[in-house]
Amino acid sequence: MNKELDNFYSILQKRYSVRKYSTKPVPKEMLDRILAVGHEAASAANRQPWAFIICEGESKKALDEVFYRDGFKDAPVAIAALSKPDEAWERRQDGSNYACVDVTIAVTEMILAATAEGLGTCWIAAFDLDKAKDILNVPDNMDIVTLFTLGFLPDGEKQPERNRKPIEDIIFKGKYKGR
Ligand SMILES: Cc1cc2nc3c(=O)[nH]c(=O)nc-3n(C[C@H](O)[C@H](O)[C@H](O)COP(=O)(O)O)c2cc1C
Repeated sequence: MNKELDNFYSILQKRYSVRKYSTKPVPKEMLDRILAVGHEAASAANRQPWAFIICEGESKKALDEVFYRDGFKDAPVAIAALSKPDEAWERRQDGSNYACVDVTIAVTEMILAATAEGLGTCWIAAFDLDKAKDILNVPDNMDIVTLFTLGFLPDGEKQPERNRKPIEDIIFKGKYKGR
């Protein structure tokens, strides 16, 4: 494996859901690089049906009341990833709206960029949605796909072992074979 590949795979392996953070601020240049990755992400028909709200300082404090886990409250940054289904590509055959897929791709890339920067992250889908919409001023035609936290790891934090289904239960050749 060449060095570039090795680096890439090691970043993927380093990512895990971090639920405790140091309160040390995230440098602006770091955050800007991560946001640029979201800006450049792929989306169906390049519709870019998304918006990202950066909460730091006072706006992060205001958002903290939507989290069910105290560990997320220490994170210096949380980003709300919003979709705009009205602007997203739809598959003609079944009307599937790809807004959520598009936002997910952008968030995944930002999370991996943050991991490469040495930050911890966590996708958060379980939060008080009504409160979050209100605090973030989200209009009715937009959805919050996820919130995600960004921050340095606290001292002593260790990456847990991965817990996944056996690979043969999820990879199929040629056709799906139910078990
Ligand atoms: C779409 C999505 C939503 C998630 N929502 C939450 C959440 O609300 N709270 C939480 O603690 N973790 C949440 N997670 C983290 C998952 O629990 C975690 O990714 C999974 O257990 C695998 O662990 P890992 O991320 O450490 O590899 C979410 C992950 C994804 C992808």
